[in-house]
Amino acid sequence: MRKKITIVGSGMVGGTTAQRLAERGYADIVMVDVVDGLAQGKALDLAEAGPIVGFDCRIVGGTVPPGPRNDYELTANSDVVVFTSGAPRKPGMSRDDLLFTNQRIVEQNVKEIARHSPNCILLMVNNPLDAMAQLALKVSGFPKQRVVGQAGVLDTARFRTFLAWELGVSVESVNAYVLGGHGDDMVPLTSYTTAAGVPVSKLIPKERLDAIVERARKGGQEMVDLLKTGSAFQAPSAAVAQMVDSILLDKKQILPCSAYLQGEYGIQDLFVGVPVKLGARGVEEVVQIDLSQEEQAALHRTTASVRSLVQKMGLMGL
Ligand code: 2OP
Repeated sequence: MRKKITIVGSGMVGGTTAQRLAERGYADIVMVDVVDGLAQGKALDLAEAGPIVGFDCRIVGGTVPPGPRNDYELTANSDVVVFTSGAPRKPGMSRDDLLFTNQRIVEQNVKEIARHSPNCILLMVNNPLDAMAQLALKVSGFPKQRVVGQAGVLDTARFRTFLAWELGVSVESVNAYVLGGHGDDMVPLTSYTTAAGVPVSKLIPKERLDAIVERARKGGQEMVDLLKTGSAFQAPSAAVAQMVDSILLDKKQILPCSAYLQGEYGIQDLFVGVPVKLGARGVEEVVQIDLSQEEQAALHRTTASVRSLVQKMGLMGL
């Protein structure tokens, strides 16, 4: 029997995530949205691409409250549930400006999903990312291993893209880590960033490298400013698909993800982006790497931003 993935939210991120996962063909997919017909339409369209692209997985769509129907039953017994629901940013907004709007949406969605799929892994994509992952952990009551946030894979992909362009090499030859919260104070780790094993600090002059770090940090904003009516969806959905592969194929890839920390990196009871081993059991391990004093300080600064959002939602002391 194929695995089952539910994608909550059928906008641009939800729709492209469904496409990427359908084309892999290893799991059936349920799409849901509050807008009646949107998930059903996108699911049908995608299913009809199957004979051409060559996948057999089942793809269905449904409507969930506050839409006019309650199709949560379709999502029952999912293995992984990806949350892309919620308002995207508009130009001039920070991810944090979405806090209270997306808090209401995520609370409602996670409660229903956890009831219908008590053994699933929750993969959060909604912003502000780390705070929404914290909310999902609280509302679901799931063990911390089964709640993970997508951010570092996306932020790292942006960083790798800009570095590869600068060096004129394949993106596959560039390895990088971006840690911390998914905000403008995220922490690209230049000390762990290499091209063919050579630290990029030896290959790129400092001012250029600093400018690339800054562009990666503001990568989400750059997209919002260009698109004007929404935020990025191609790179975010590719990041989700990589994480779902690692979970459902039990690949145990070490990926930068938002995970609930209880003492690791000196951070207590908070979701922050760190390297994790992602496998069939979800976050199977938080991988601890040595950080310079400067990197550790930067990580703690981003942690303070996440903590303040979590406090605003009244969520501390899980
Ligand atoms: C981004 O960084 C939407 O947070 C997402 O593009």
